Amino acid sequence: MSNSVTSNFEVIKAKTSRINQVDFDNLGFGKYYTDHMLVCDYQNGSWGMPKIMPYQPISLEPSAKIFHYGQSIFEGMKGYKDKDGNILLFRPIDNCKRFNISAKRLAIPEIPEEYFMEGLKTLMQIDGDWIPTDNGSSLYIRPFMFATGEGFHASPADKYKFIIALSPSGPYFSGKVKVLIEEKYSRAANGGVGYAKAGGNYAGQFYPTQLAIDKGYNQVIWTDDTSHEYIEEAGAMNIFIRINDTLLTAPTSDRILDGITRKSIIEIAKDMNIPVEVRRIKVSEVVDAAKNGTLTEMFGAGTAAVISPISGFGYRDQDYDLPILKDNYATVLKKRITDIQTNKANDPYGWRVQV
Ligand code: PLP
Ligand code: COI
Repeated sequence: MSNSVTSNFEVIKAKTSRINQVDFDNLGFGKYYTDHMLVCDYQNGSWGMPKIMPYQPISLEPSAKIFHYGQSIFEGMKGYKDKDGNILLFRPIDNCKRFNISAKRLAIPEIPEEYFMEGLKTLMQIDGDWIPTDNGSSLYIRPFMFATGEGFHASPADKYKFIIALSPSGPYFSGKVKVLIEEKYSRAANGGVGYAKAGGNYAGQFYPTQLAIDKGYNQVIWTDDTSHEYIEEAGAMNIFIRINDTLLTAPTSDRILDGITRKSIIEIAKDMNIPVEVRRIKVSEVVDAAKNGTLTEMFGAGTAAVISPISGFGYRDQDYDLPILKDNYATVLKKRITDIQTNKANDPYGWRVQV
């Protein structure tokens, strides 16, 4: 850990902790925030030193460009505590790198890796008591960055804020996940921002997702924007499909988020001798497989979702239920990845980082 960076961080501690106000048995997802947050401001062409301060509201000018032109990106990560009380992160450098990939695409200045990493570690140490250890719970970490610079001119802002907030959280989905394969609306297009974690990507999904929710589904599975013939990803997770014994997932592209859970699952599955194919998947192939009984599993993979089995999908006004397999891949892969994340198993990949 670089002393020179952390020793320059200003830390203002909260006078009292709010931790006793939180019902850790009913966390839900992303509803509670810890006592502190990390804040770092960009102005005059450079990032200032990160500061840790009590979690609190922020004040912005109505003309701040975030409100008008949506220059805003975020990340999603999780922190865990093992049985010895060690604080653990999972592949955090990958999130930091992806954050800066998103920043570049949205014309936001990149954050220095050491500010992100050392800032996060210091914050995690300060709010370490907030990390839940119950099965399925963790400290959800939300780094985000947005335009604070003012002006109605449609051009990049000259001021930005980088914040990391922490939220003790339970599972993202509370029950079965039923998805709708979408053919009309698109999440992303070639040359667009689909591969970035831009706030606007999520805003654009809310309306079509609500239409799907109204019909009884939980998430939309997006198809490619040109033909709508190929499965891409879901609103908040990448998608895996098991046909016979082979696990399929779409290749990443301009339009698909390069999920850290996705790439970890691909590696773990291969090491468990599960046949994996990363290739374009036709919707018709999945529908045919559902009809002839060879579609045995579908699941979503993401930081918030972990591995979420899909119970069925809708396509062209027809519902297809998935069987409940005893020896399903979702269960073994979820156990393997969460055991690595929480230090219940050795980590041969070097993904786990102790804070
Ligand atoms: N796809 C989308 C659109 C997401 O929002 C997420 C969540 O971060 C993922 C996929 C999964 O990515 P990761 O595994 O890195 O969390
Ligand atoms: C995550 O999995 O961390 C995400 O960013 C998904 C989010 C929309 C909750």
